Amino acid sequence: MNKPTSSDTAKSKTPVILKVLDRPQEMKPQYAEHLAGAFAEISARATGGKDWQVYSPGQDGWRDYYASPGGRPRDYARLVVGYAGERVVHFTALDVLQIGGYDVIWFHIAITEPEFQGAGVLLKAVAALLDPMWMERFSSTVHVVFRTPNPIVYESLQAIPPPLRWRIVGRYPEIKETGLPEAPEEIRSFAKAVAARLSPECPYDSERFVIKGYFKKYGALYQNLNFPCRNPVTSSFFKQQLDELNQDGLLTISLLEREY
Ligand SMILES: CC(C)(COP(=O)(O)OP(=O)(O)OC[C@H]1O[C@@H](n2cnc3c(N)ncnc32)[C@H](O)[C@@H]1OP(=O)(O)O)[C@@H](O)C(=O)NCCC(=O)NCCS
Repeated sequence: MNKPTSSDTAKSKTPVILKVLDRPQEMKPQYAEHLAGAFAEISARATGGKDWQVYSPGQDGWRDYYASPGGRPRDYARLVVGYAGERVVHFTALDVLQIGGYDVIWFHIAITEPEFQGAGVLLKAVAALLDPMWMERFSSTVHVVFRTPNPIVYESLQAIPPPLRWRIVGRYPEIKETGLPEAPEEIRSFAKAVAARLSPECPYDSERFVIKGYFKKYGALYQNLNFPCRNPVTSSFFKQQLDELNQDGLLTISLLEREY
């Protein structure tokens, strides 16, 4: 039997059209306000568990998140918004940083409306954001980083193909049945610098790549994290090593190298 793919599990078959916003800071204030509201609603539904409708820490926390500097729709360096008809059903946002002398693409946030999850929207959104022309701005290597409490994000990072003319030369941490093999020293010290830059107020567990309480300043955004991840090894790593009540997140790093 073939392994089930994401597209087997998506509930909605409505096509999702992606719109890339190259200069989000130039969007009209009304559109920014509309997006902030839509992002907060999708996020609350995607992370609030079964009773998300009455889960006010999620509803209030996400509204606060998309109204705070750094998280507002106009604050990102590049943004892609997915529409099913007029309805916003996906968004992925990135920032570009320099950390420890390296070019860094930080996938700041990525959320798909629950009924559209598993249809390949995130894969298409990442491909749209990292299009070959846009990637021309980077020289030979780029570090792509993400913080997440969700094992499905970890899985998707293993599945996302490199942009055209780039190859992936490493992904960290490597979650294996036997635990985490030790990452090279260079990666561990880079990861520490990334955690300090992205979450300066949070303790960082450099052995496990875990940022403790990285979402906490917005309250308990996530609850009942029964993310339906198909890979039991990844799922159990997240359950055992990340404290859900503390809103911990795993720091992931993918190393991209230009082919020519
Ligand atoms: C994480 C999330 C954005 C993925 O979006 P999506 O549009 O459903 O993702 P896609 O359908 O493009 O799937 C991409 C890849 O992820 C992996 N994936 C998706 N669903 C999976 C699942 N249930 N189990 C394991 N891997 C899965 C697969 O590798 C998939 O590639 P494939 O289709 O080639 O198998 C979405 O699940 C989500 O919004 N989750 C809740 C919010 C959240 O935690 N966001 C992250 C904030 S940091």
